Amino acid sequence: MSKKIIYLDNAATTPLDPKVLTAMMPYLQGEFGNASSLHTLGLNNRVAVDRAQATVASFLGAQKSEVYFTSGATESDNMAIFGPLRALQAKFPGRRWQIIVSSIEHDAILEPAKQLAKEDVEVVFLPVGSDGIVKVEELKKLIKENTILVSIMYINNEIGAIQPIQEIGALIKELNKTRSQKIYFHTDATQALAYVDCNVDKLGIDMLSLSGHKIYGPKGVGALYLRKGTQFQPLIWGGHQQSGVRSGTYNVPGIVGLGKAIEILKDSKKIAQENKKIKDLRDYLIKEIKKIPKVKLNGDAKKRSPNNASFIFEGVEGESVLLMLSDKNIAVSTGSACSSGSLEPSHVLSAMGVSPEKAHGSLRFSLGRFNTKADVTALVKALPTIIKRLRKMSPIK
Ligand SMILES: Cc1ncc(COP(=O)(O)O)c(C=O)c1O
Repeated sequence: MSKKIIYLDNAATTPLDPKVLTAMMPYLQGEFGNASSLHTLGLNNRVAVDRAQATVASFLGAQKSEVYFTSGATESDNMAIFGPLRALQAKFPGRRWQIIVSSIEHDAILEPAKQLAKEDVEVVFLPVGSDGIVKVEELKKLIKENTILVSIMYINNEIGAIQPIQEIGALIKELNKTRSQKIYFHTDATQALAYVDCNVDKLGIDMLSLSGHKIYGPKGVGALYLRKGTQFQPLIWGGHQQSGVRSGTYNVPGIVGLGKAIEILKDSKKIAQENKKIKDLRDYLIKEIKKIPKVKLNGDAKKRSPNNASFIFEGVEGESVLLMLSDKNIAVSTGSACSSGSLEPSHVLSAMGVSPEKAHGSLRFSLGRFNTKADVTALVKALPTIIKRLRKMSPIK
């Protein structure tokens, strides 16, 4: 039998909660109908989709009809970037619009934005400070007459920095009072859902992306919250499901799993306890790792997700540490190579002013619901020896 993996990579994906699996099982077996069919099998599935939609909506403080299921946060992010813009381009041909995204967004935002920059769209990348956080005042200065979209992630996936979403929402709400063309405010809340308040009215959000597999739900399912009245052109055209905003046969097992994962998050008392446990483990991890010489925590120590600890270990390659930890069945992630496997330094660390040499020494530890103190102890026991060995071997001093 394979050895137990000590999983400290919950920002990459989370294990499926057994309660989620139980909820999904009927829809992977007997209840296989198409939620658009009018017979009993179809209607049973439709009821399940409706229930999940109501759960997601109530978690976000939204209306049920404002929640659209997608294949994950990448699709939701693409919808947020292209949907309103394409609708406005169709309505006002020839107008040049501006969109603003932060420079530390996930590629699911950055890549669509870069595609638009090749067209007649003004794309602005909002910088961050060395703490990995955007400045609301800087955003305010960049907003112009032709701005139609601001997209700022809630919690960064690499360094866990929490962005001032409520302040940005309030700023945009204020500006919108006197504008002829509304600025839409989108947040990618993929890493945030379990940890911070995601009430869309309180935050002043028009669009919000989320994903099942980051909250102990299944992969390949997510949702976009789209405020009623938002101008929107679909990206996927087809069978008119979900009011035509996102066509395609409903992924019922996935949607049911996402609904269950969010139902679990709705138990605020239990989640507050869980998050305290995660934060305590994270603080223990930080305290122990800081004992290693020449180590620096990336991002603000306080304004960070309770599950994230990201560091730079000077004089080592993050990938080498990762592989040596993997040999000991400890799963972590590096921030230095992007997901395509290229050796480009992390765009997030670069945006924070970290040099490429230093960025290559970064490692991310991300905790979750199922971690224990023994997991962190195993890591902090194994790591100093690995770092010492690699530093001895390394030409980088
Ligand atoms: C902040 C953020 N946005 C978007 C995504 C993409 O999510 P998905 O895997 O559901 O497409 C991820 C996943 O890595 C993420 O961390």
